[in-house]
Amino acid sequence: MSHETMPRVLGRCDPDDTLPGDVHQTALPGDVHQTALPGDVHQTALPGDTHQTVLRVEGLAHAYPDGQQTLFGVDLTVRRGERVALLGPNGAGKTTLVLHLNGILTAGRGTVHVGGLPVTTEHLREIRRRVGIVFQDPDDQLFMPTVRDDVAFGPANLGLRGAALDARVTRALDQVGLADLADRAPHHLSFGQRRRAAVATVLAMEPEILVLDEPSSNLDPASRRELADILRGLDVTVLMVTHDLPYALELCPRSVILSGGVIVADGPTPRLLADTELLARHRLELPYGFDPQLLAR
Ligand SMILES: Nc1ncnc2c1ncn2[C@@H]1O[C@H](COP(=O)(O)OP(=O)(O)O)[C@@H](O)[C@H]1O
Ligand SMILES: [Mg+2]
Repeated sequence: MSHETMPRVLGRCDPDDTLPGDVHQTALPGDVHQTALPGDVHQTALPGDTHQTVLRVEGLAHAYPDGQQTLFGVDLTVRRGERVALLGPNGAGKTTLVLHLNGILTAGRGTVHVGGLPVTTEHLREIRRRVGIVFQDPDDQLFMPTVRDDVAFGPANLGLRGAALDARVTRALDQVGLADLADRAPHHLSFGQRRRAAVATVLAMEPEILVLDEPSSNLDPASRRELADILRGLDVTVLMVTHDLPYALELCPRSVILSGGVIVADGPTPRLLADTELLARHRLELPYGFDPQLLAR
């Protein structure tokens, strides 16, 4: 989805898709305590898998209204605490897949479950609390007068107020190293700082999964490194869409390759990146001079 066509309000993934002006709309206090459905209890782990499944995508297919079929039956399971890179060429359907994870797009066929809860209209509010998406363009996600207001927007919509809200905002800003810039206007920040602010708006929701769409794109080397350090330090499940294969290697022990609307590879990142034929088949390239043999060891 291009940024031109993506409604700006969707960039935030607020529980109610509220318009930026709707800052006074409040959630019912009970929503904060919304608990998972009984189905969660019966969620089973994969055989031999002691970790809990946090994301389960099964047979997901999607066609855009213009008839453009983009996903052709995607299966993907992510366990709690994993960091997974979602790799693939342009037009593979990565962003389309990501937009299904919190219900911005709905499945034509197949299902998405987050912590056992199906991504359906009736659960949208809780799903959007559980799945935080950082979009490729931070300006899709920042629209308030100050960084602090932007970071407070989501939790305030969940019903947080006063000291609880302040603590949530302070923590999220600390996590991305922006505490000192909290009262600045987002458009006065550098691009790298705006991307970190966008990450903070999502972290403030305390999501169960942090999804990042091309997080290293347009960052200079220092900003890229700073963001990597931040992401590595977070105690949260991460699904990271990227073309930046060294970034995937650095941050994500596991990678999946989406190509032509299906998952074509899933395994340890070093192994996938050492498979030059696999990469070439799916238009993925390591940077010049990056020796894939070093990865296989
Ligand atoms: N809003 C849309 N309407 C129609 N087709 C779309 C739309 N957004 C994306 N597509 C098409 O869906 C395919 C996958 O796009 P996308 O999910 O953005 O891929 P990726 O993120 O892997 O580059 C592309 O062929 C793209 O042109
Ligand atoms: Mg994309």
